[in-house]
Amino acid sequence: MGVEEKFKQSVKGIHSLLAILLIGFISVLTILFFTVKDLASPTTNTPVISPDYVEVLGNEEDLDKIENGIHVRTGFVEGEGLMLVVQNCTSCHSAKLVTQNRMSKEKWLATIRWMQETQNLWDLGVNEEPILKYLSTYYAPNQIGRRANLENVEWYHLNE
Ligand code: HEC
Repeated sequence: MGVEEKFKQSVKGIHSLLAILLIGFISVLTILFFTVKDLASPTTNTPVISPDYVEVLGNEEDLDKIENGIHVRTGFVEGEGLMLVVQNCTSCHSAKLVTQNRMSKEKWLATIRWMQETQNLWDLGVNEEPILKYLSTYYAPNQIGRRANLENVEWYHLNE
């Protein structure tokens, strides 16, 4: 092999080395990008307070104000177990995610188990039962938005 040939080969070698380094560098950047993005995601333990109320509410006491049977800060219906639900169910996501749902007790329990298995929800301990009772009482299926069945209807036949 001549000197020129050797030189060409080593240039080729350097080129592939550079290409591998570049691919590695891009991969590391991509991984870093997604990690940092995850770290900055809103799943933190800071309580979610609607910005609408932050201005209105001056002190701690007002944070748990109840008006017309509604816990103002979260929108939860007033009832036994309310504060347990406020304390345990609003730190990761908005209370809206809870209040927009209607479920049976079994479904609420299944949702809680799902969050415990996949979303780091803690063991609710002795609070689990009162929380389930509150949810299945005030956020039960078809509690609102569905009229009662019609009774004693006199049906008639359409003439064709
Ligand atoms: C440790 C964090 C955490 C806590 C505390 C928490 N959740 Fe969740 N929950 C999540 C995450 C994460 C999701 C998925 C959010 C999404 O899909 O955007 C979720 C989703 C939900 C959903 C929607 C489920 C669906 O099928 O779409 C409901 C309902 C819910 N949570 C209710 C509750 C209730 C009730 C409590 C209190 C017992 C609670 N959460 C406490 C993390 C939490």
